[in-house]
Amino acid sequence: MEFKDSTSYTDLTQGKIKHIDFRIRVDFSTRTLDIEAKYQLQEPVHGSLYLDTFKINLKQAHVGGRELKWEFDTRDDILGERLHLQGLEGDSTFTLMFRTAPEARALQWLNATQTAGGNYPFLYSQCQASHARSIFPCQDTPSVRFTYSAEVEVPQGLVAAMAAEQVRSDALTGEAVSKGQEGSGHGYASVFAFKMPQPIPSYLFALAVGNLVFREFGPRTGIYAEPEMIEAAAWEFAENETKMTEAEKLLGPYLWGRYDLLVLPPSFPYGGMENPRLTFLTSTSILGTRGQTSLITHELAHAWTGNLVTNATWQDFWLNEGWTTYAESRITEVLEGKDVEDLRAAFSEKQLMAVMERIGVDSPLTCLKLPADEKDADSFTTIIPYYKGCFFLKECEYAVGRERFDAFIQKYMASFQFQSLTTEAFLDFLRVELPEVFEKVDVQQWVYKPGLPEERHKPKSYLYDEVQQVLNDYQQGTRPTKEQVQDWHRFQIFSFLQGLSRKIPVEDCPYLEDILELEKRNDAGYYSFFYATCIASGYEAVLPRVEQFMERVGRMLYILPIVRAMIETDWSREYIRPLFERVRDRHHQITANAIDGLLKKAGL
Ligand code: BES
Ligand code: ZN
Repeated sequence: MEFKDSTSYTDLTQGKIKHIDFRIRVDFSTRTLDIEAKYQLQEPVHGSLYLDTFKINLKQAHVGGRELKWEFDTRDDILGERLHLQGLEGDSTFTLMFRTAPEARALQWLNATQTAGGNYPFLYSQCQASHARSIFPCQDTPSVRFTYSAEVEVPQGLVAAMAAEQVRSDALTGEAVSKGQEGSGHGYASVFAFKMPQPIPSYLFALAVGNLVFREFGPRTGIYAEPEMIEAAAWEFAENETKMTEAEKLLGPYLWGRYDLLVLPPSFPYGGMENPRLTFLTSTSILGTRGQTSLITHELAHAWTGNLVTNATWQDFWLNEGWTTYAESRITEVLEGKDVEDLRAAFSEKQLMAVMERIGVDSPLTCLKLPADEKDADSFTTIIPYYKGCFFLKECEYAVGRERFDAFIQKYMASFQFQSLTTEAFLDFLRVELPEVFEKVDVQQWVYKPGLPEERHKPKSYLYDEVQQVLNDYQQGTRPTKEQVQDWHRFQIFSFLQGLSRKIPVEDCPYLEDILELEKRNDAGYYSFFYATCIASGYEAVLPRVEQFMERVGRMLYILPIVRAMIETDWSREYIRPLFERVRDRHHQITANAIDGLLKKAGL
């Protein structure tokens, strides 16, 4: 299979990493990880091996007793530094000793004050898309898969969790562990050991350390959170075991062993991240209503679509996210009914069109297959691959009928399990298995052309239409009443907020907030839309609350629309840069960089 990954320095002709044994010491005082990593290669390598790194302080490289020569020979702000290991003599193992930088892109180090409990520091990683290279030198492309083991030493009292199987957890009296490791700073440590026997791409490596406790839901499912949150968190997601059973019916057997959740402090930049066996989750998903279970459905579905069958490059991101959104919609249909799924589909289509318009319907970023020369995979993270990918797959399903498509899904998962594939490889498989799709659906246009094909099945939803009616009446001058909206589904409220004109009368802002009972519902998703409307409508009194929101919520999907609204609106433009600087420390680097990027683009 011929392809190039513009987001990595990897040269697949040199060889591939097969397995890594890590020994990791977590040092909160210097905000660094000290790591010894023993690499095994697929086959013996002669000469050079290029690895991706980002601000890694490499101390030693050797094969057995033989020192390896190395050079950091290419540098780039986004790609990082290419580590060039030299003089491999048909070796299939080597060992690296190194330290991560305090500003490692994948690592978020939090002070105790930034956690729910307030007494212990916290560390978590986020490697997708191309950040694993800031934790360890690797072939940081989703086309290379490896297994690993890890021994993680943390200060006593803290717990390490990884997206892997835990094989040992004990608190040792420090002397034994820390001896000989300078700058340990504490005499006591606990060691946790993990193994990941299923091969994963580097972006699914994940680690978290904090004051964590665990609660079980069922034989395969449970949740980690700070003690202060565990009760609420465990209640919110108690239905996960059932969800797994449904997912397996659609996608085939779950091949990763356990499926646990980990609730992170609010700065986590995503709603969820599908780290294998252990989904990382934003604390803002705990609503007290079980209202955000679609987030879990999504991350759980990734256990198949993404983790088991993986996009070979980030250009093929829709293979991960479009397939996952499709699976999410199918599972939602079973668990919440067709009406709710139709509503979600109608809302998603509207969202998709809005984003396409913002980006430009002719932009290559609206194609399913994304541009080949982009170095920064995070720039591909729009909802387009999610929703457009899902709608494309629904179109394929309509073409052959659900029964045949379901058989196809199971065969696809089984045929490519633990493999990474390109869009082209997927289309080849589709052509062989379901040739009629190509007769009935303009696959070329869906995949390689920008925008949305005019000829397609458009979502129909009476629950959505109900909201449209209320929006139309409002446009004509009749405000909605509390009675009209009080029983609305979460996605009806979203559809309403989404469907409002950009600007509404200022006095309607507090009115709508009141009748929709936004405060009581406590759902950050609503406020993402609502604050953007308030800002565009000139409701200046909302500013202090926007600042509080930006301090409390780290999920990019929710805060970037507010930042955009502030940039685009005259009165608020001057406030956004100082506001951002005040809340910057609360956020993950990924988020801070995204906001900074928007501000710079606007000349702010
Ligand atoms: N894998 C993504 C998160 C991601 C994407 C991280 C790209 C880094 C780069 C995750 O599965 C996801 O899509 N999360 C969404 C929620 C989902 C329900 C749409 C999010 O975090 O908002
Ligand atoms: Zn996803």
